[in-house]
Amino acid sequence: MAARIFMKRPLELGKTFRKASTNLSAFEIQHKSPLVKKQQKIPVALYGGRHAVTMLPGSGIGPELMAYVRDVFRYAGAPVDFETININPNTDESDDLIHAITSIKRNGVAIKGNIETKSEDTEVQSRNVAIRNELDLFINVLNCKSYPGVKCRQSNIDIVIIRQNTEGEYAMLEHESVHGVVESMKIVTQSNSERVARWAFEYAKRHGRKKVTIVHKANIMKLSDGLFLETSRRIAKEYPEIEHNDMIIDNCCMQLVSNPHQFDVMIMTNLYGSIVSNVICGLIGGAGLLSGRNYGDHYAVFEPGTRNTGTAIAGKNIANPIAMLNASVDMLEHLGHQQHADMIQQAIVKTICEDNIQTPDLGGHHSSSDVVQRVIDHIVHSDRTW
Ligand code: NAI
Repeated sequence: MAARIFMKRPLELGKTFRKASTNLSAFEIQHKSPLVKKQQKIPVALYGGRHAVTMLPGSGIGPELMAYVRDVFRYAGAPVDFETININPNTDESDDLIHAITSIKRNGVAIKGNIETKSEDTEVQSRNVAIRNELDLFINVLNCKSYPGVKCRQSNIDIVIIRQNTEGEYAMLEHESVHGVVESMKIVTQSNSERVARWAFEYAKRHGRKKVTIVHKANIMKLSDGLFLETSRRIAKEYPEIEHNDMIIDNCCMQLVSNPHQFDVMIMTNLYGSIVSNVICGLIGGAGLLSGRNYGDHYAVFEPGTRNTGTAIAGKNIANPIAMLNASVDMLEHLGHQQHADMIQQAIVKTICEDNIQTPDLGGHHSSSDVVQRVIDHIVHSDRTW
């Protein structure tokens, strides 16, 4: 039987969003972006002092959480206008997705929920992955910092996970070599490994972090993870002031649960990043708290850290709004609205840590709207001396 090969191709408006069996070069398969970027930094959209930001509510709890972000921004007076684009999860067409990507390219910045792909067609790709690939958002960052007032399995955690976001196990290159045998390609490139490692060490330097841990499985995947490990070690040598070590992913998960305080900044490939993010989120309060940031050379997309859909709790007024509000705070910081970001951040901390207004996922009995109302109350009564 002839082998079926599914590969990525550029998105085209009006076309069904499927993988295609085209003859792309190895370089095109692995990269959407050139190794060396010559373009100038693309400015974010700013009209009359207000930033335009793309909002992709996504599925499940996404739309209700975005409504809370809008409410909070209104009371905070945040100078941001949202361009909302809904992506229909029930269709295989790519038009919504193309509009979303075009909007993010125009505005430079987006906030998003998780976008479901309901199609069971194996050739229809994840829209979340497509957005990251099309915008070359090669870095995902999760600041995993415990909230003192939240009851959880581990306290005083302060770990930064830096994850390769566009290749690895998410390359979406699978083929059936012979009937009943499917091969899935894990793509690791030196250029992307280098970008991740450099970004991580630069981040550690800028933020006074002491140690970077490289997470891998190079004992088994000697070539792919071996390249990631070798490249990261090479970059580490350029930063002698920052300690570095490496750890096999299996041991890393155990260490995270038993002794997480040994970690400071962690770097890893794509799937390990998702797993480790979920482990740490579980340790410090679950999917409803932490936000995640996706960066490329030109665009930035902000979202809840574990990227869940939360479909089972949608519409019940019990979803924790904090992860999405934290994503909106990250976005304000990125846009340079530090005072608005601090005001919302402080209101969040007061609400969940001092007032103990918490949703059921944190052990509380309050609704999503109770939490948001209290955040708004704190914002309204905050001392705006700036
Ligand atoms: P899910 O959406 O079922 O969420 C996992 C658990 O976290 C559920 O118990 C949910 O109620 C809870 N949860 C999530 N957000 C919450 C919030 N704001 N407040 C309170 N509880 C919250 O996640 P699952 O099963 O992992 O995935 C569902 C969809 O999300 C799938 O389409 C999957 O592909 C996608 N997804 C999940 C990722 C993950 O890391 N878990 C990563 C990327 C995509």
